[in-house]
Amino acid sequence: MQVLFAPLQGYTTGIYRKAHAEIFGGVDAYYAPFLRIENGRPREKDLRDIDDGRDLITEAKTIPQIIANSVNEFKTLADAIMQKGFTEIDFNMGCPFPMQVSRHRGAGLLSDTQTVKGIMDEIARLTAKNSIKFSVKMRLGQNSPDEAFALLPILNDAPLAHITLHPRLGKQQYKGAVDFTSFVRFYDECRHPLVYNGDITSVSQMRKMEAGYPKLAGIMIGRGMLARPSLAAEYKAASDTSAASISEKDLLSKILEMHGRLYEHARSTYQGDSQILSHIKSFWEYLEPSIPKKAFKKIKKAGNLGEYDAAVLSLNKE
Ligand SMILES: Cc1cc2nc3c(=O)[nH]c(=O)nc-3n(C[C@H](O)[C@H](O)[C@H](O)COP(=O)(O)O)c2cc1C
Repeated sequence: MQVLFAPLQGYTTGIYRKAHAEIFGGVDAYYAPFLRIENGRPREKDLRDIDDGRDLITEAKTIPQIIANSVNEFKTLADAIMQKGFTEIDFNMGCPFPMQVSRHRGAGLLSDTQTVKGIMDEIARLTAKNSIKFSVKMRLGQNSPDEAFALLPILNDAPLAHITLHPRLGKQQYKGAVDFTSFVRFYDECRHPLVYNGDITSVSQMRKMEAGYPKLAGIMIGRGMLARPSLAAEYKAASDTSAASISEKDLLSKILEMHGRLYEHARSTYQGDSQILSHIKSFWEYLEPSIPKKAFKKIKKAGNLGEYDAAVLSLNKE
């Protein structure tokens, strides 16, 4: 199975993706957080981020993602990415953020079969004329899984490279259980290669998915990889369901190496303690399970760079 790093706005920045690829590896493709329209144009900050992580040293690729509420927005964004020479684009039909859903984007588009049909027709037109592939990342619906099943015939007919399914509803955001029954029905009825996404945090879970759903093309992992950045490499290295193949000491030392790169970047990009801290602290947010508790608390509490540096140093001493 392919292992894909999910896009997480505010976390998996270009710099993060590149450092992860070089230090941990094991990931087949990194999905960049979505590019959207702002003031009628592709958002500059998102475009810069797509470029930042592009020259990943390993075999991994960066796959840009777009979010759109109409064929027009879709065309503008796909065009901007194709102009950069990318040959694969992911289309977001899963974002549950109220700001996007209320604008009919992400999970807010799932109930609109007509607009989705228009976008799939545009995908067919673009793939026939250019060397470009499209995939879709979606939820089961905003309010009901019926939405995904009403869309599936349209998606099955479109020339998609694969579909990634996060089997929750938009209205659940990231809480509540994943709907495994609907996932299995989707798995049975989907004619494209299917990638599973949602709540995967261990190699044994990955092995279970692989054994239970042999048709799966891959697993996309977000928060589980932020929490244990070695997860993809451990999956690739492990030959059975046994536990971690990296020692806690090596994991910590790689986390610190990755932090060093991101910290250097934050210090040279932002000014003043609070700006730098607000950017670098997100690196630690999901890492609690992988680092000593005391140091994690100190990092969270640090109010200036002096306290922060001391807190990070204390990681080595615990
Ligand atoms: C803070 C945050 C930002 C996210 N940003 C994006 C995004 O830009 N595009 C997208 O498709 N999904 C986004 N997601 C969803 C994740 O890619 C993923 O689908 C979700 O976290 C479930 O997978 P996981 O349980 O492995 O984390 C985001 C999720 C979080 C928590």
